[in-house]
Amino acid sequence: MSDMYSNVHLILRWLHVIAGITWIGHLYFFNFVNVPLQGALDDATKKAVNPHLMPRALWWFRWGAMITFLAGLTLFVLTYFYTPGVGLGPTNLLMDVDGITDRAMWIFFGMLLGTIMWFNVWFIIWPAQKRLLKGQVPAADIPTIRKRALLTSRTNAFLSGPMLFGMLAPAHYGAMNAFSLILAFGLGLVAIGASIRSSGSVGKLA
Ligand code: HEM
Repeated sequence: MSDMYSNVHLILRWLHVIAGITWIGHLYFFNFVNVPLQGALDDATKKAVNPHLMPRALWWFRWGAMITFLAGLTLFVLTYFYTPGVGLGPTNLLMDVDGITDRAMWIFFGMLLGTIMWFNVWFIIWPAQKRLLKGQVPAADIPTIRKRALLTSRTNAFLSGPMLFGMLAPAHYGAMNAFSLILAFGLGLVAIGASIRSSGSVGKLA
């Protein structure tokens, strides 16, 4: 209990990961379960079910993304820009005698992908879903808006593989090289493959 820095760090990591699970769990629910389910429902059932299902699922989805993002940025500052007893400034996890460390390169890679995903949630997927749920989209534009939201959601499913690799690699893997980057993106392809297999082509859904 005496080491306040370590305690705060651990609680922040816990918050970051539990919010990340909430966010990515909902992303996978949408991609792997809900898209194929919606395709199998008739209009009357959709009208009965979706007003209860979608606002609730989208709430956990977007706020999970926000908490993950904010806790992640704080974690970044605390890990790479703060030394207990010294204060703010680049730590030896960020820079060593050879310049930027591989550990820092990995977290930059993960944070870049995570930030693109967060942006997609808050500025593309959620605004599109909100307009669809409120019935604000003219009938002729519905397929286009649905397709945009679906493609963005699939992009996020793809990015989730390499993004998570970039989260785990800093502390648990070392080198960043061509092999490890190919491996990270290969894992993304597994996620998008599962999404497409379970929900059919975008053309069919729109
Ligand atoms: C949205 C942008 C994100 C940012 C800015 C971010 C930032 C960070 C940072 C700075 C770390 C610490 C790295 C280190 O110890 O060197 C980390 C670790 C981690 N992040 Fe993220 N992250 C993001 C998204 C996510 C998401 C969506 C997940 C999904 C679950 C996630 C899961 C993890 C995990 C599991 C760790 C490792 C914890 C550990 O080994 O102690 N992150 N993240």
